[in-house]
Amino acid sequence: MPQLLYKTKNSFPNLSSTFWFFFSLLIVLKPSCQATQSLPNSRLLNAYKALQAWKHAIISDPNNITSNWYGEKVCNYTGVFCTFALDDPHITTVAGIDLNGKDIAGSLPEELGLLTDIALFHLNSNRFGGTIPKSFFNLHLLYELDISNNCFTGSFPSVILSLPSLKYLDLRFNEFEGSVPSTLFDLKLDAIFLNDNKFQSSIPNNIGNSPASVIVLANNKFTGGIPCSLAKMGGTLNEISLMNMSLNGCLPREIGELTNLTIFDVSFNDLVGPLPEMTGGMKDLEEFNVAHNKLSCKIPASLCSLPRLANLTYSYNYISGESPKCYNIAGKEDRQNCIPGRPWQRSAQECKSFVAHPLNCANFGYSAISPSPSPAVASLMLSPVYLDDQDDLTNVIH
Ligand SMILES: *[C@@H]1O[C@H](CO)[C@@H](O)[C@H](O)[C@H]1NC(C)=O
Ligand SMILES: *[C@@H]1O[C@H](CO)[C@@H](O)[C@H](O)[C@H]1NC(C)=O
Ligand SMILES: *[C@@H]1O[C@H](CO)[C@@H](O)[C@H](O)[C@H]1NC(C)=O
Ligand SMILES: *[C@@H]1O[C@H](CO)[C@@H](O)[C@H](O)[C@H]1NC(C)=O
Ligand SMILES: *[C@@H]1O[C@H](CO)[C@@H](O)[C@H](O)[C@H]1NC(C)=O
Repeated sequence: MPQLLYKTKNSFPNLSSTFWFFFSLLIVLKPSCQATQSLPNSRLLNAYKALQAWKHAIISDPNNITSNWYGEKVCNYTGVFCTFALDDPHITTVAGIDLNGKDIAGSLPEELGLLTDIALFHLNSNRFGGTIPKSFFNLHLLYELDISNNCFTGSFPSVILSLPSLKYLDLRFNEFEGSVPSTLFDLKLDAIFLNDNKFQSSIPNNIGNSPASVIVLANNKFTGGIPCSLAKMGGTLNEISLMNMSLNGCLPREIGELTNLTIFDVSFNDLVGPLPEMTGGMKDLEEFNVAHNKLSCKIPASLCSLPRLANLTYSYNYISGESPKCYNIAGKEDRQNCIPGRPWQRSAQECKSFVAHPLNCANFGYSAISPSPSPAVASLMLSPVYLDDQDDLTNVIH
C-alpha cells in the first residue's frame, strides 16, 4: 500500500513553501505568545469561550490533555498555539490547534467558529464524531484542516467549500458518506485526502480543474469512469490514488499528459481495455499500479522505458504481453495475467473465456481524441492505442 494511505503522517507530502512558512511561524512564535499574554484581548476572550465550549463537548480524554484548559490564558492550554494577529501585530491571538494523536472523544461545538484567526486545525487520530460546525464559515484564515482518522459522519462538510485560505484538506479515515461536491475541485487546494470514507458518487468531471499536487480518493464507493480532464493537471499533479473505488471503463489515454506525476494507483477497480501507449509520456513516474482490474493487451514498451519507474504492478489482469524492457524494472509484478512464458499466470481456460467476451473501449466513454495534447505527448497519441489483442491471446491458449 502506498504511503499515501497511511493513517498518521510523519512526513507531509510535497506542499508549497507557504505551508512550511505557516508551520514554522507557529513553532517559532509560541514562546513570545506566552511572554506577551498579560491582558487578554477580545479575540483571546472569544477563544476562551470557544475552548471552554469545546472542553464541555469532550466526553473522554484519557491522557488528560485538556486538564489545563481552564482560565483565560488560553495560550497556555495544551494543543493551543498563539501568535500575533496577521492584521494587527500588537495583539496575540490563537493561530492553531494541534491535538493530533491524543485519543480524545467528543464533538466539535459551534463556538469553534469564534477562533477566527486559526490557520491550522489538526485533530488527526482522535475519536471525535458528529459533523463539522457550520460556524467554520468564519475561519477565513484556515490553511490546513486535518480531521483524519476520527469518527466524523454525515455528508461532505460543505462549509469547507467556503474557506478562502484552505490549502490542505485531510478528511481520510472517517465515516463521511454521499457524494463529493464537484466544486471541491475548483478550489485552490494543494492536497486533497478523502480516502477511507463511504463517499459514493462518480468522480466529478471537473477533477482536472484542481491545482492540487496530491489527490487521494482511494477506498471509497465511487463508481463510473476516470474523467479525461485529469490531463489538465499535467504541470501540477504529483501523486494520485484512485484505488479500490469500483471504477469502470478504460484508462483515458490523457493520463499520458501527467508529466509531473510520480505515483499513479488505480488498483482494485473494474477497469478494462489496454494501458494507453501514451503512459510513456509520464516522464516523472516512479510507481504505477493497475493491479486487480480487467486490463488486457500488451504493456507498452514506452511505459517500461521510463527512467524513474521503480515499481510497476499489473498483476491480476488479463495482460497478454510485455516488452523485454519491462524486465529491467526492479519492482515489477506481473503475476496472474495471460502472458506467455511467464510464471504464475492465469490458466489457459481463464484467458480463453476472457477473450470470449471482447471489450471495445469505445463502449466505455473512452474519448478518441484529447482536446489539446501537449506537443510532448502528441506523437504518442499517434501510435495505435488499442491493439486488437485477440491474436496474442489465441497464441497463449494454443
Ligand atoms: C488523568 O487524570 C485522572 C484523574 O486525575 C487520573 O486518575 C489519571 O491517572 C490521569 N491519566 C493520565 C494518563 O495522566
Ligand atoms: C503559562 O506557561 C508558562 C510556561 O510554561 C508558565 O511559566 C506560566 O506560569 C503559565 N501561566 C499560567 C497562568 O499558567
Ligand atoms: C476496499 O475498500 C473496502 C471498503 O470500501 C474495504 O473493506 C476493503 O478492504 C478494501 N480493499 C482493499 C484491497 O484495500
Ligand atoms: C513539472 O515538470 C516540469 C518539467 O517537465 C518542471 O519544469 C516543473 O517544475 C514541474 N512542476 C512541478 C510542480 O514539479
Ligand atoms: C510496489 O508497490 C506495491 C503496491 O504499492 C507494493 O506492494 C510493493 O511492495 C512495491 N514493490 C517494490 C519493489 O517497491
